[in-house]
Amino acid sequence: MVPCVSVRKAVIPAAGLGTRLLPATKAIPKEMMPLLDRPAIQRVVEEAVDVGIRDILIVTSRNKEALADHFDRSPELESALEDKGKSAAAEAVRRLSDLARIHFVRQPEPLGLGHAVSMARDHIGDESFAVLLPDDVMTSPRALRSMLALHERGGRTVLALLRVSREEIAALGAADAEEIAERIHRVRSVVEKPRPEEAPSELAVIGRYVFSPEIFDALDRTPPGVGGEIQLTDAIGLLTREGEVLGWEVEVERHDCGNKLGYLKAFVSFALQDPEVAEPFVAWMRERLPGAGPDEST
Ligand code: G1P
Repeated sequence: MVPCVSVRKAVIPAAGLGTRLLPATKAIPKEMMPLLDRPAIQRVVEEAVDVGIRDILIVTSRNKEALADHFDRSPELESALEDKGKSAAAEAVRRLSDLARIHFVRQPEPLGLGHAVSMARDHIGDESFAVLLPDDVMTSPRALRSMLALHERGGRTVLALLRVSREEIAALGAADAEEIAERIHRVRSVVEKPRPEEAPSELAVIGRYVFSPEIFDALDRTPPGVGGEIQLTDAIGLLTREGEVLGWEVEVERHDCGNKLGYLKAFVSFALQDPEVAEPFVAWMRERLPGAGPDEST
């Protein structure tokens, strides 16, 4: 019988340095870079909450106190805003601390993404859980929802897959996979940051995962890999040899916010979804884009 494996918990590894956005990230964690009116980490937490996950563990490192402050209650700020009649802003601040039960654990040394995920073992216990990498920002929770549905059907590991170019795959995990139904792949193996000519395909593993607790044992058995770090991809590689790993080819916009262009695209995508600014922003862009004609959609 298929076990009941509803996923209640998520892990967000947020211990990385953010060197590609320096100097912006010199004094603030990269996860706090705003995407329009909220920091990237809040977008990712909201994605988890949107699919029904209310227990979130954020793995941090030194100098990341701003993350805990962001999700903490702020009674002084709330009452100062109320006193000034700014109740919408007060409500936005209050909503933040009610969003989810957010827990923190520190990764003492930068030993890799796999190591960061293994820090969640005590908190997760014997349950299935999702992992959301905060550099990868999705403009809709649809992909994660589909991945959870796939997991519920069989309790297997589910990876998010995205077709990218050969050049791009060198910076990502790559999957050797076979499509068994629309958007659903059986993953035969995975490799972290392959040379473009050695990549098994152009299907990249991107930053959403659903795991059963077996991943922790696999991580324990994973030696350091690329960059001398314990790679999550290598632990998943063990799982592909021992059981079934599925991939969901994502159907939503995904942006790598850890670099300038990806960050900019994510920012603009959220601006285009925002009812307050979308229309005037598009009008402003049209004036500035060389060769772009007037809006013909109206
Ligand atoms: C990590 C994973 C990699 C994945 C990528 C997605 O790499 O190790 O497999 O493709 O996230 O963003 P990182 O970006 O930490 O180098």
